[in-house]
Amino acid sequence: MEKLEKLKKERNAIILAHNYQRPEIQDIADFVGDSLALAMKAKQTDADVIVFCGVDFMAESAKIINPDKIVLFPDEKAKCPMAAMVDAESLIKLKEKYDYDIVSYINTSAAVKAVSDICCTSANAVKVVQSMPGGVIFVPDENLGNYVMRFVKDKEIILWPGFCPTHMGISLKDIMKLKEEHPEAEILAHPECTPDVIDIADKVASTEGMVRYAMESESREFIVATERELCYRMKKEMPDKEFYPVKNAVCPTMKTITLEKVIKSLEEMKPQIKLSEEIMEKAKKPLEKMLEMGRG
Ligand code: 13P
Ligand code: SF4
Repeated sequence: MEKLEKLKKERNAIILAHNYQRPEIQDIADFVGDSLALAMKAKQTDADVIVFCGVDFMAESAKIINPDKIVLFPDEKAKCPMAAMVDAESLIKLKEKYDYDIVSYINTSAAVKAVSDICCTSANAVKVVQSMPGGVIFVPDENLGNYVMRFVKDKEIILWPGFCPTHMGISLKDIMKLKEEHPEAEILAHPECTPDVIDIADKVASTEGMVRYAMESESREFIVATERELCYRMKKEMPDKEFYPVKNAVCPTMKTITLEKVIKSLEEMKPQIKLSEEIMEKAKKPLEKMLEMGRG
């Protein structure tokens, strides 16, 4: 790891990693967190180069917040399938029909953010929608939108039929099987999960929210209904507690970034996130508004 440290120093680089990244990436990162924490960290850093270990929309957000910094994205193939489920053109058409504000989940392309009024993450979606003056078009995650609607009853919310394939694959049956094996365990679920999973969860939260909840809880065991690598971070930070991932809860695109690719990106200073000036300028406003709202 000497090589990596040397490169980081030479480039004045910081490594940001999402909670779903491989253990070896989490171990070398300067900061590991959820989408909101990573966007906040990207805003605060005085590094010249951000090496972003996550998926496309997260690295793009870091670039939009920091147009003058270099954002390295070690594997350009790491694209979130949910973010690809909504496009700016269709969204503009929907806005013409309803004339409501567009709240876009951070899991969207820069072009979609550019036509949005505000962004949100799973950590502040309820707070963001509650803050809107009238009706809302919420894109692209239908499950997160339905979760928000449990709390926001005074506005019309138009949902988009997007979904996360990883969270859709987390079944109530598999969770209940784990619960039978570990009856004392609390169930933590991400709001991208289906409503039947949300119904039985003891806590619904963003990935960072789950870490914080587990730290404060007196329980010693947790069933973690989100991408399984979050359990690595949890066990590392709470070695005296047990965390049980759910069968098949893997996000393949989060796994494309490897240690070798991180080192190579710093050596070659590529691939870099490149976006048009116009898109960046427009997308910055809804992202900054979201950052001002903070955690929910
Ligand atoms: P968090 O913001 O909760 O980390 O979630 C990001 C994500 O992609 C969930 O699938
Ligand atoms: Fe996208 Fe789902 Fe992977 Fe999160 S877990 S990055 S929403 S595919």
